[in-house]
Amino acid sequence: MLKIAFYDAKPYDRPSFEKYGAPRGLEYRFLETKLNHDTVELAHGCDAVCVFVNDTVDAFVIDRLCELGVRLIALRSAGFNNVDVLHACGKIPVVRVPAYSPYAVAEHAMALLLTSIRRIHKAYNRTREFNFSLNGLTGFDLHGKTMGVVGTGKIGRILIDIARGFGMHVLAYDKFPARGTDYEYVPLETLLERSDVISLHCPLTDETRHMINAEAIERMKKGVVILNTSRGALIDADALLEGIKARKVGAACLDVYEEEADVFFEDRSGHILNDDRLSRLISMPNVIVTSHQAFLTEEALNNIAETTVQNIITILETGEECPNELTKQYSN
Ligand code: NAI
Repeated sequence: MLKIAFYDAKPYDRPSFEKYGAPRGLEYRFLETKLNHDTVELAHGCDAVCVFVNDTVDAFVIDRLCELGVRLIALRSAGFNNVDVLHACGKIPVVRVPAYSPYAVAEHAMALLLTSIRRIHKAYNRTREFNFSLNGLTGFDLHGKTMGVVGTGKIGRILIDIARGFGMHVLAYDKFPARGTDYEYVPLETLLERSDVISLHCPLTDETRHMINAEAIERMKKGVVILNTSRGALIDADALLEGIKARKVGAACLDVYEEEADVFFEDRSGHILNDDRLSRLISMPNVIVTSHQAFLTEEALNNIAETTVQNIITILETGEECPNELTKQYSN
């Protein structure tokens, strides 16, 4: 029996992890708390920890996990900017789930866009109050408009297909453009200047942090719609707020936020929100915020659980090479 300390466990995580893990001999210690310096002790007696995007896996936590005899860090996410992978190299393997449902994220981006520009969120609230007025609900057609997609990896490509299905013209930017496609790659500046809708699908790195800043927004068309389902820090939220207040940005749809760690995934409805910037963004009539929800489909949850369980078994039981081991990739 392998024991897994499962941090930041939510009710929607358990069914899929039990379905794939129990038959293969995994026993979970589901913990509602996030992994951090104070909670690392809760992994005592476990073979592995299973962590998510807002758990802290820094050098201190990694060293303490090793001292406790934990033998594996299994991320149940694709992104790993919260893990000090280099520090883990040679000490403890780190595995992740590189892809689980790019459709989930691309479809959520389009759902946000349609909700925003057709004012579905406003209409929903109005009709529940028996307010059947159409005033202020005028939207615009996507057909014939230009969508700029930044990052043409797994998710960006699916969004390109979806946008083309709506009759949109698509411009693409990627630091490493894909070969053998018919995508119209342009420099980032051109994409910013010519797009009616801009959707971000590149990873967060030192280079991409705040790629959407005041200067970038200045280049954009008046009324541009900005979608971010990637990582919050791709956008300088203060610059975005200024762009909205200046009526330059027509709408923003954010599934991620730079300072989301303490807020997203939690029910804070009975609390005073300390983050003034997030409060201001949410208060804007043309901003829609979802709390890192883009991945959340049945298909994605099943794929995440199946791959994570396989990663754990491969490393801890069979001892075979695991294609999803980050520490192997980083030490090469
Ligand atoms: P991917 O690795 O398949 O594609 C990323 C693309 O970004 C690649 O084509 C790469 O060449 C490009 N890229 C790298 N550096 C760049 C730069 N400096 N400028 C422009 N493009 C650059 O990744 P995938 O699966 O498409 O995911 C994209 C992002 O979506 C992830 O990095 C992750 O942060 C985010 N994500 C968000 C989820 C959510 O629930 N909101 C769920 C899953 C992923």
